[in-house]
Amino acid sequence: MPATHKTTVISNEQLSPNSWRLLLAAQALAEQAQPGQFVQVRVTATYDPLLRTPLSMHDCDPAQGTLTLLYQTVGTSTRMLSRLQAGTELDVLGPLGHGFVLPEQGERGSAILLAGGIGVAPLLFLARELVKKHIDTSLLFGARSAADLVGIADFEQIGVTVTCCTNDGSQGISGNVIDLLDNYLQSHVAGRVFACGPIPMLKALQGLAKQRDLAAQLSLEAYMACGLGACLGCAVAVPGGGFAHVCTDGPVFKESEVEL
Ligand SMILES: Cc1cc2nc3c(=O)[nH]c(=O)nc-3n(C[C@H](O)[C@H](O)[C@H](O)COP(=O)(O)OP(=O)(O)OC[C@H]3O[C@@H](n4cnc5c(N)ncnc54)[C@H](O)[C@@H]3O)c2cc1C
Ligand code: FES
Repeated sequence: MPATHKTTVISNEQLSPNSWRLLLAAQALAEQAQPGQFVQVRVTATYDPLLRTPLSMHDCDPAQGTLTLLYQTVGTSTRMLSRLQAGTELDVLGPLGHGFVLPEQGERGSAILLAGGIGVAPLLFLARELVKKHIDTSLLFGARSAADLVGIADFEQIGVTVTCCTNDGSQGISGNVIDLLDNYLQSHVAGRVFACGPIPMLKALQGLAKQRDLAAQLSLEAYMACGLGACLGCAVAVPGGGFAHVCTDGPVFKESEVEL
């Protein structure tokens, strides 16, 4: 059962005009977390805003007892988060949901991480675990503009090959990340794909996966309230009718498990 944790802000660093990296002292969370899981953060001690903010576990270091979150400022809660100073106590609920299913050590095939914008957030923790299993790992990272391509050095530092594209052509190849993947597959053996990004990107990936017989896992973002499977706030349609909860059945699903 997920619990609330009293964590402390170690640093809150601005990476781009609207992206931030928050490092928390969070020993218990760092020990329990699995790649692809998320937390719900209460951004103030008051209940305004009322709802917690769901954020992916960007990185975890059990030895240091730290949890890193990577977030974009889009509205009230994330802007409040960006103003937190070192030393502030933060109430964090988690770890929540089901994360990525990792290949077994020695299993054949490479791993392709596919990130759209801030969808890169859950992929660093995953990359670390894949590299530990000696799985050849590449990141294909697409964003609107160069300023949105945050955190690349962290991937390169652990031996992940990074290829970027931007919609405006300001860094890397000009175009979207699905075209980048399609091109990449012309010259690389298809491995497992682990993706996070906007819904249209994930939907396009589902199409490509079907066409090329790719095994893909998708990390979904949905509007959330409870984060615990109790309110139906995060429902996503499943094939054959009915719904799954992104918060408890996901946020990671196989590409064939959801209808986007
Ligand atoms: C499982 C999960 C993991 C997430 N991980 C991350 C992460 O690691 N980093 C990160 O930056 N963001 C992440 N998000 C999205 C993040 O939770 C929202 O951006 C945040 O809650 C917005 O809160 P706000 O009060 O700042 O903005 P609001 O004022 O609530 O909204 C501002 C704008 O963002 C849109 N928006 C808000 N929430 C969502 C959502 N869940 N999906 C799509 N659009 C939304 C609103 O429609 C509005 O246009 C995640 C969401 C989920 C469900
Ligand atoms: S957020 Fe309440 S059921 Fe998922």
